[in-house]
Amino acid sequence: MNRGARKPGRLVVVSNRVALPQQTSTGGLASAMQAALRERGGLWFGWSGKVSGNRELHQHTDGPIDYATIDLSRTDHDDFYAGFANSTLWPLLHYRPDLVDYQREHLDGYLRVNELFAEHLVKLLKPSDILWVHDYHLIPLAAMLRARGVRNRIGFFLHTPLPAAALLIALPQHRALLETLASYDLIGLHSARDLRALEDYFLHEAGGAMRPGGGLRAASGRSFRAGVFPISIDTALVAKTARAAEAHEEIGQLRKSLEGRSLIIGVDRLDYSKGLAQRFMAYAHLLEREPELHRRITFLQIAPPSRGAVPEYRQIRRELERMAGHINGMYAAPDWAPIRYVNQSFPHSLLTGYYRHARVGLVTPLRDGMNLVAKEYVASQNPKDPGVLILSRFAGAAFELSDALLVNPADTAEVADALERALKMPLKERRQRWRSMMDVLERRDITVWRNAFLDALAATPAPARMTQPASAAASQITLAKRPLDEPSPRYE
Ligand code: F6P
Repeated sequence: MNRGARKPGRLVVVSNRVALPQQTSTGGLASAMQAALRERGGLWFGWSGKVSGNRELHQHTDGPIDYATIDLSRTDHDDFYAGFANSTLWPLLHYRPDLVDYQREHLDGYLRVNELFAEHLVKLLKPSDILWVHDYHLIPLAAMLRARGVRNRIGFFLHTPLPAAALLIALPQHRALLETLASYDLIGLHSARDLRALEDYFLHEAGGAMRPGGGLRAASGRSFRAGVFPISIDTALVAKTARAAEAHEEIGQLRKSLEGRSLIIGVDRLDYSKGLAQRFMAYAHLLEREPELHRRITFLQIAPPSRGAVPEYRQIRRELERMAGHINGMYAAPDWAPIRYVNQSFPHSLLTGYYRHARVGLVTPLRDGMNLVAKEYVASQNPKDPGVLILSRFAGAAFELSDALLVNPADTAEVADALERALKMPLKERRQRWRSMMDVLERRDITVWRNAFLDALAATPAPARMTQPASAAASQITLAKRPLDEPSPRYE
């Protein structure tokens, strides 16, 4: 074992969005990162969330945590965030090659912003720091840092699914971009399916090899490790928050408005990957075929809009408004609306109360890296009278929550059947299913997740010294310039 593994240095978290301490509505990942940063002292670096012409680094400190953020220019935001990250990579990673919009200038913007991150970050790093980079926005960041001479251990966690190699190769210049993943020391993925896809890609599309002691060697010769680390929630805290939420006025109001009807709940960022249109169709199918359920159930779908700069998001929003209106038009009575469709976000504490009050949690993404709503729904339940989780087989959470009613979200009849079964499920079965899922969540919570990743990262061999000059110019990844099929160096 090397010396670095024994003495944990400062943790440096890098992500596109940074949960600044003054922002109150931070989610599970943000609290997990904050807890880790508080424990060992650290720095959180990323985009400020602002679009401006200001190129300065914003820095401030809150106890043991330093925050450093940068604004993005309008062009960088449009090319990097709305463009390559969310119009090219996001649909590809969610198995939607039909929606991939690839534009050279978006890729240039993506690389430009990653270079900008690297340029600022390198000045803030200490030799003993351990870096943890998050998500698809920052795939080439480690390569750009390495080119600047950074030898620290760098881990990467992908919060989305990783599709099969056969899909990844649909991305123009995929190899030049994806091979930069080899500059990380450890790559964390949510599920064994994602890990298989990564290995398959490196072995069969990128000239890599499996190493005898585990791990992968890229065609460049650099070795790295990859592993499955299913992200989780702060299970005990969610359960406590949900119990406390029962006293909230808003929960009382919801309960009263239901007039004894069973609540079905869905909570999702408004995104085409969440399968909302298919979910609405399944609900309509249930209403069509089970008239005796009319007036006895209410479906509350909370869907805060996101990424409005991307046309597909505006389109799905219009489509869902139309569908919700249509279903209510078809089935509503003067004193009953079958769907309550709400484009608004709510404080986390209130959501846990809504989950606790819902007889059914309907979580049916077409693809999802993990889906923490599924886990939070389970953790929020009243152990004496728990609700039933209906979960898409294509969410990472399905690997762990196998006692949910697992469905194919595209199969409207199957989802309608699951809804009916959940609404009629006897208490004994509900309790058994809930207990076994809750056991998993109690055993593997968010703290277990982050410690598992950080321990595995600390145990990776120390990165070798760079043999190349570390000038900024040398770090320019030449994605746009090299001929497509030529195995090329990653740096000029
Ligand atoms: O991995 C998906 C993700 O980046 C999550 O980390 C986050 O919850 C969500 O997408 C938010 O997306 P955005 O930052 O684009 O609003």
